[in-house]
Amino acid sequence: MTENQARRAADVARAYYDTGDVDGFYAHAWGGEDIHVGLYEHEREAVGAASGRTVDHLAAKAADVLGPGSTVLDLGSGYGGAARRLAGRFGCRVVALNISEVQNRRHRELNAERGLDHLIEVVTGSFNEIPSPGARFDVVWSQEALCHSGDRALTLREAARVLRPGGRLLFTDIMAAEDAPAAELRPLEERLTVADLATPAFYHGLLPGLGLTDVEFDDLSEHMLTHYLRLEEEVGRDGPGLAGAVSDGYRARLRENLPLWSAACRKGHLRWGTFAARRA
Ligand SMILES: C[S@@+](CC[C@H](N)C(=O)[O-])C[C@H]1O[C@@H](n2cnc3c(N)ncnc32)[C@H](O)[C@@H]1O
Repeated sequence: MTENQARRAADVARAYYDTGDVDGFYAHAWGGEDIHVGLYEHEREAVGAASGRTVDHLAAKAADVLGPGSTVLDLGSGYGGAARRLAGRFGCRVVALNISEVQNRRHRELNAERGLDHLIEVVTGSFNEIPSPGARFDVVWSQEALCHSGDRALTLREAARVLRPGGRLLFTDIMAAEDAPAAELRPLEERLTVADLATPAFYHGLLPGLGLTDVEFDDLSEHMLTHYLRLEEEVGRDGPGLAGAVSDGYRARLRENLPLWSAACRKGHLRWGTFAARRA
């Protein structure tokens, strides 16, 4: 991968998330706070509740280092659902780095509404050049954002660089199964505007070489099918405020696109789960 490819992918991600229709979909159909896969207690559960549970599940892997004195860096922080949940629960500070200024505006507004803006700093920038000179973070966190990186080795090298020794890397990502046929993944990658998807084996191979130990992956792929079926349902019934938030054309495209994701989940072509590792 070249620096240009990484920069181009960042530009594509910014343009995608800054688009009115995309913003309207994620802000209204996907729970309004989080834009990641939820952990479902049952198939009828609200997307927002399940998405919050994913944050709690991931945080539990670093509960010993999360507290009022600690600082988390969230890479690709969306509307800040995780940042607010972490700051609210643990009293930790969060630096939320995200390339989309549209999302960052909404993120700052929500932080102020909840009285959490003194704990959360929202920074506009790319996770390929983390604006921090040294190893200062207790936790580097990321959810469903590495899929957008044009150079995941670069992004994760940056993550490892800014983690203090003993600090934790925690992330979730939408990944491909190792044996997924490229032609089946292509329509999904195009919809997400990404060049490709990582696999669990890719991350397992990469992380130890970046000075990360105790690498653990929990495969929670079954929740991804429930998640996409719930999204299909929300879009199908024009769930909370969607009709006014996205154009008719985009809504029609969503109705075509979302079933592609659930079909890929059913065929076992996608993987999703939590990665946790410790900086040596
Ligand atoms: C699917 S959303 C996930 C948002 C958030 N992590 C969450 O779980 O709610 C992907 C996020 O990655 C961000 N992103 C994509 N490429 C980025 C880059 N190069 N640098 C920083 N953020 C990026 C997007 O702007 C978006 O906020």
